[in-house]
Amino acid sequence: MDQQLEKAPAYLTLTYGCQMNVRDSEIMNGLLEAMGYCATDKPEEASIILFNTCSVRHSAENKVYGKLGEISALKRRNPDLIIAFGGCMAQLPEVQARLKKIGVDVVFGTHNIHELPYLIEQARQSKTPVFQVWDQEGEVEENLPSVRRPGISAFVNIMYGCNNFCSYCIVPYTRGRERSRRSADILKEVQELADQGYREVTLLGQNVNSYGKGLDEEIDFADLLAMTARVEGIDRVRFTTSHPKDMSDKLIDTIAGNPVICEHIHVPLQAGSNRILKRMNRGYTREHYLEITNRIRERIPGVAITSDLIVGFPGEEDEDFADTLDMVEKVRFDAAFTFMYSTRSGTRAAEFTDQVPLEVKKARLNQLNLVQYRIAREINQSLEGKVEEVLVEGPSKTDKTKLTSRTRTNRVVIIPGSEDLIGQIIPVRIVEGKSFSLFGEVLPAVKSS
Ligand code: SAH
Ligand code: SF4
Ligand code: F3S
Repeated sequence: MDQQLEKAPAYLTLTYGCQMNVRDSEIMNGLLEAMGYCATDKPEEASIILFNTCSVRHSAENKVYGKLGEISALKRRNPDLIIAFGGCMAQLPEVQARLKKIGVDVVFGTHNIHELPYLIEQARQSKTPVFQVWDQEGEVEENLPSVRRPGISAFVNIMYGCNNFCSYCIVPYTRGRERSRRSADILKEVQELADQGYREVTLLGQNVNSYGKGLDEEIDFADLLAMTARVEGIDRVRFTTSHPKDMSDKLIDTIAGNPVICEHIHVPLQAGSNRILKRMNRGYTREHYLEITNRIRERIPGVAITSDLIVGFPGEEDEDFADTLDMVEKVRFDAAFTFMYSTRSGTRAAEFTDQVPLEVKKARLNQLNLVQYRIAREINQSLEGKVEEVLVEGPSKTDKTKLTSRTRTNRVVIIPGSEDLIGQIIPVRIVEGKSFSLFGEVLPAVKSS
């Protein structure tokens, strides 16, 4: 048989969790394609099924275990199928023990991504499970291949890991200590993206505004943002996540003074009570947070401030929760991700004995969501009639006849229009504002062009 006509073996990657994992999956996919595999979205066609997992909350882990059950059943029918398991869950000893029982072929840690091809080959040849999980980070690996989501917007890692040890959070244990990439490597990657036609980049890190520590060069996040904004062909620069304790005046002024840097800051508050913030080890008070967000609003006109909020942290009393609601009313977040506290073993908060009952957490989450959705709706309604500059991203997921676009402030605007608008930055008039999205009309000048 003609070897050339034989179909390449296929892989399927299942990605859970945050943007860091989305970006890591692009690299894992790049490594697999360099090995000669091609992508499929059908599990039954795949020779490798790769899990890139998240352990930030119990529910995230449950989702992965559910899917792993399904895929293990597939493997019983197709014993040659390789199941590879990476990401944050792979770092945790209790997960590793469970994976040994389930019979996963390759388990690789967040610091071992570059070794994936070698580990897969080893598992194929030895037909025994291969575990490779370093518990500490190595050097930052540059120049790994990657297959990005095609399009107009790309993620770029600027740093890995986290040093903050918020008492509820597993990330410092799964991702290791904070280390920054050299600016030259970041800028080279951004330039390559621009050359490939990407128009927007989002700089990623668990705590981007502490970028630059430990590098040989003298640089901070504000410098890096300004340098990224100067890359020819990149029209919009975004970044996530910022930590309130590292929000400098220099950074605020850099965002304010640079038209390429979008006016959106995701700066999680987590909780509104000083007692809880202290127990969370967040390093700021509610007064400090208000002062920062007021300063941001004063200096960056029209800025959107978004947040993550946790309800039901151990020891959270009704008054503490009332403080969170009060802060939400005071800051008026443009949007917020809200979570029920989930105990992560190995973290400090898991040892606190005053855990909040599930029913209380659920009730608080509902109450918080009602307040936050109302505020988001009010803010979005106040935009009705205004003209916003949007970057058109592609067909709308909910209504295929429409397009989805994004304002500089990261609001989704659904607009009518043909696909040739995709990739363009255009002005649209907002006709309706809802809690999670806006509806707009394309201005006549654009339609006729
Ligand atoms: N580095 C980022 C994001 C970390 S994870 C930051 O510091 O903001 C994303 C969000 O998940 C966190 O902001 C927090 O709100 C939430 N989270 C983290 N651990 C959690 C836990 N144990 N239970 C519930 N929510 C959690
Ligand atoms: Fe987790 Fe806190 Fe680090 Fe964010 S800053 S990743 S919440 S430890
Ligand atoms: Fe989850 Fe790891 Fe991201 S725990 S949120 S995938 S850093």
